[in-house]
Amino acid sequence: MKKILTGLQPTGELTLGNYIGAIKQMKEYQEKYESYLFVADMHSITINQDSKILREKSKSLIALYLACGIDPQKNIIFLQSDNIYHANISWVLECNTYFGELSRMTQFKDKSSKHQNFTAGLFTYPILMAGDILLYDVDYVPVGKDQKQHVELTRDIAQRFNKKYGETFKIPEPLINKVGANIMDLVDPTKKMSKSSENKKGIIQLLDDEKMIRKKIMGATTDSFGKIHYDTQNQPGISNLMTIYASLKNCPIEMVEEQFKDSNYGSFKKEVADLVIDILLPIQTKYRELLNSNQIDDILDHGKDVTTKIACKKYELVKQKVGLGR
Ligand code: TYM
Repeated sequence: MKKILTGLQPTGELTLGNYIGAIKQMKEYQEKYESYLFVADMHSITINQDSKILREKSKSLIALYLACGIDPQKNIIFLQSDNIYHANISWVLECNTYFGELSRMTQFKDKSSKHQNFTAGLFTYPILMAGDILLYDVDYVPVGKDQKQHVELTRDIAQRFNKKYGETFKIPEPLINKVGANIMDLVDPTKKMSKSSENKKGIIQLLDDEKMIRKKIMGATTDSFGKIHYDTQNQPGISNLMTIYASLKNCPIEMVEEQFKDSNYGSFKKEVADLVIDILLPIQTKYRELLNSNQIDDILDHGKDVTTKIACKKYELVKQKVGLGR
């Protein structure tokens, strides 16, 4: 059976972009792949975090995974920092990655430009991500478009390592949705919907209440063409709403265009809001039920056991290849 793995950072509130770009994919793929899903809490500390809030968020992200339909029987769910081998392998991979490669990462350029004093961890972040992936010999990595470059770097690092030390890592492929890989901000549809966005009006958080979701979607930026037509260049706002609708309905964009060809923006937005609410409200109810159950710790204990065994084996192989240890 082919293997997939992905992770999400427990920072900020997850957005509809995270749901469509990553979680929803995992939910669909869990039926046919051996699936690994984790909370990337170590990635979160690349920027300053409140320790208490980070720990709470890591746990609540697991509740959110489950509430979104991730089945713990079909996925190995774990916390990145529960498994020491992620950091261990990351060091070896760091010594096999070039400064120039990391300097070209667009997310690093973007994030570092927003902080006056950023950490070395923000720079080496993609290598930790490469370690997350390469420890498990996965075939595919379901992600949104913004993570594609990091998965490509992972491939480069793995290929270089294999060439230098002999076959060690499986070369993974990014798995990116045809529709919905890049959900845009509702206020500024030329930039991605991001949980770290300052203007919360542009992002739908998975835990936003009904009124808020409706208000944000009804207030989404559109254009003066007045036609429901997919054109990301000239009509980015309406195209983004079409993408959201098509992704959540699992239908092609052309079908959305055909269905709403005679509608005005107001009535289309209302349909989009209804659909988002229909999907998110049951998730929120389930999330609240799960949040305080023991189930989360049991799932994480199991995830820690299973992944530590796999990761230890791979790390020992890496040590042996590189010449570390006795
Ligand atoms: P993170 O936490 O920023 O985002 C989690 C997932 O959500 C996707 N995503 C989006 N998809 C569509 N539209 C958007 N607007 C949008 N915003 C975010 C992201 O592409 C991602 O799939 N470095 C990763 C976490 C990570 C990881 C890994 C992922 C750590 N190790 C190993 C895969 C494999 C991150 O910060 O994702």
